[in-house]
Amino acid sequence: MALPPGPREPAIVQLVQFTQRPLEWLDDCARRYGDPFTSHFPGLGAFVLASSPALIKEIFTGDADVLHAGKANAMLEPFVGKHSVLLLDGAPHLRQRRLLSPPMRGERMQAYASLIGEITRAELARMPVGEPFSLHEHMQSITLEVILRAVFGLEEGAHMRSLRSLLLAMLEPPPAIMAFIPVRYLDFPLSPYRTFVKRRAAVTRSLREVIRARRAALAAGGEPGTDILSLLLTARDEVGAPMTEDELCDELVTMLVAGHETTATALSWAFACLLEHRHVAERLRAEIAGEEDPAALAGVEYLDLVVKETLRLRPVIPDVVRKTQRPVTFAGHELPAGVSLTPCIHLAHRRPESWPDPDRFDPERFRGAKLDPYAWFPFGGGIRRCIGMAFAMYEMKIVLGTILPRVELRLAKPGTVPVVRRTITLAPKHGTRVIIEGRRRDAARRVA
Ligand code: HEM
Repeated sequence: MALPPGPREPAIVQLVQFTQRPLEWLDDCARRYGDPFTSHFPGLGAFVLASSPALIKEIFTGDADVLHAGKANAMLEPFVGKHSVLLLDGAPHLRQRRLLSPPMRGERMQAYASLIGEITRAELARMPVGEPFSLHEHMQSITLEVILRAVFGLEEGAHMRSLRSLLLAMLEPPPAIMAFIPVRYLDFPLSPYRTFVKRRAAVTRSLREVIRARRAALAAGGEPGTDILSLLLTARDEVGAPMTEDELCDELVTMLVAGHETTATALSWAFACLLEHRHVAERLRAEIAGEEDPAALAGVEYLDLVVKETLRLRPVIPDVVRKTQRPVTFAGHELPAGVSLTPCIHLAHRRPESWPDPDRFDPERFRGAKLDPYAWFPFGGGIRRCIGMAFAMYEMKIVLGTILPRVELRLAKPGTVPVVRRTITLAPKHGTRVIIEGRRRDAARRVA
């Protein structure tokens, strides 16, 4: 069995390249070895990376019993827990997805519009004027708050404050390379991993209290809220069974881990792209001028184009993985079991055949265009496509559309914002450092 060609450096060198200079390394490999190519990472085996729409389609529509995403995500177990949808395959995965998906569908989003607008305006008021600061930290505060309130259904108060600080402690990012090192090498007395496990346990205890209190309120005849936890508590699978407390707990952490940092990073990228391209920012301001209602903001077409183009040019996650459970034929190669078939989002999003002048930030390319799910897939694809896609894009539009018209904003350092890796995400260097030069007069009143 012959794998497609690829770099011959030792696996550890390949891993260091992939974590330290991800885009340059991926571009370089694609140029030298073509599509697909094979790379090796220590302890993780062979990865076959693909980028053409035909190959991506083959993977995303392939037999889900043979191409397992849950197995490929096994490293996430300490974070998300063994019941997480991210770790499951086959029938258990489908059951969990069916339970989780309805509250996350596009048509439900309107329920969260004013909440997202309100959280964004409060955070905007906390941003300093006239001095450089990292936008990313503020985007993290917004996306965490949105998850605590729209997903977990918490109200401001002592409980929410304590859960917020427990979650922030748990989410402290470890060095990027640790995301690729199997747990058995990290688990020793006084290791940062052990500290993390303790923090995760504290989060679990706190979440169990939230779930029990909400269940008790429902049992006592209380009205379910519009938050996602309330909807999950009333969800039933095909045999009429509700989700267990363990499942609910792991899925809440999953949504937090999968949805908080990713959306914050995508927002930081959107601001970086807009501030690098002032004419696009000005056009966007003009298109949303005077629009106050958050739900209507989410309907502004140009905002939609800007969000899609940001996710194309600066995808937050560079690739997704499906692990072969038995030998398969792929692109004319006989691949053994245990290979990680890897649709590479970064490379697919820069193919000139799909995206003319691919390095250019141009929201117009999406106007009237039918989205090809095998050429544009910042949220992955097939039966594993991100459950939070509609939610994340909706949130991004409201946050961008609320902040942009209210402030005069510029990059602290003009030029292109470089890409750096933060654990598994690709983030703007220094979290997009900006300066607010002033609050817009009419908007300042609204912020106050
Ligand atoms: C811009 C923000 C986001 C990006 C870029 C993103 C990206 C992704 C990607 C690439 C995957 C893997 C898909 C695959 O393997 O094909 C994924 C899965 C997932 N995401 Fe997101 N995501 C974002 C926001 C969210 C949010 C807000 C939530 C929930 C509140 C969420 C929940 C999930 C879940 C539960 C899965 C697992 C789906 C499964 O395994 O079936 N994500 N996301």
